[in-house]
Amino acid sequence: MIADVWPLFGLVLRTPRLELRLPSLDRLAALAELAGDGVHDPAVMPFTTPWTDLPPAERARSVLQWQWKSWAELTPAGWSLALTVLADGVVVGTQELSAKDFAVLREVQTGSWLGRRHQGRGIGTEMRAAVLHLAFAGLGAELARSAAALDNPASRAVSAKLGYTEDGTDRIAVRDRPAEHVRLRLDRAGWQAHRTVPVEVAGLAPCLPLLGAG
Ligand SMILES: CC(C)(COP(=O)(O)OP(=O)(O)OC[C@H]1O[C@@H](n2cnc3c(N)ncnc32)[C@H](O)[C@@H]1OP(=O)(O)O)[C@@H](O)C(=O)NCCC(=O)NCCS
Repeated sequence: MIADVWPLFGLVLRTPRLELRLPSLDRLAALAELAGDGVHDPAVMPFTTPWTDLPPAERARSVLQWQWKSWAELTPAGWSLALTVLADGVVVGTQELSAKDFAVLREVQTGSWLGRRHQGRGIGTEMRAAVLHLAFAGLGAELARSAAALDNPASRAVSAKLGYTEDGTDRIAVRDRPAEHVRLRLDRAGWQAHRTVPVEVAGLAPCLPLLGAG
């Protein structure tokens, strides 16, 4: 079985409504199609790399290559888990957890998107809570970082609900214009104080050495 060779395929996070795991090719195709259908109002650009400006078919293919890149480049010194999010078995979006030099720094980063029709129902909060649980309870992280465009109220609200505090801003060139992004941080005490979503993690033990957390 693939999980015997690549244990990350056996890693599964479960919350009351969601399941998060690396995708099969069929689920990856469903995720790509969701991206092709649109991730946000084209008038705004929530991402620092404006990948959603690509035409729909290219945007969909970029989801595949982003996933495969993360598989190919994973090492204990630098990794990214782009987990597919399923609600009632349906692919609704993706939640990433990544780290550099985790063994030394004990820090993780997150990023995410949902298909437009799945937004605004609390799924974004529940899936971020799932990877925060993986990071703090499962991997022994001490700090989680995130960032959001100043004009991204949904992402900022998710971070605020989960206890992140603001940590300054960055000015970034996006669509050839300056965009301001808020840096966010959540330490272990903040996570403990704000956790409300029950999360179950399965299949983690054989993954730990691959993530610098063994
Ligand atoms: C960001 C994203 C993942 C959040 O997921 P979601 O399921 O929509 O978020 P939730 O429903 O869990 O929570 C959204 C919160 O934002 C609030 N919100 C949404 N729009 C808002 C607005 N215009 N003003 C103020 N608050 C707003 C909601 O009220 C909700 O808070 P509440 O539960 O306290 O009411 C999702 O909206 C998304 O994929 N957006 C497009 C891509 C993106 O921006 N990715 C993140 C890049 S940093």
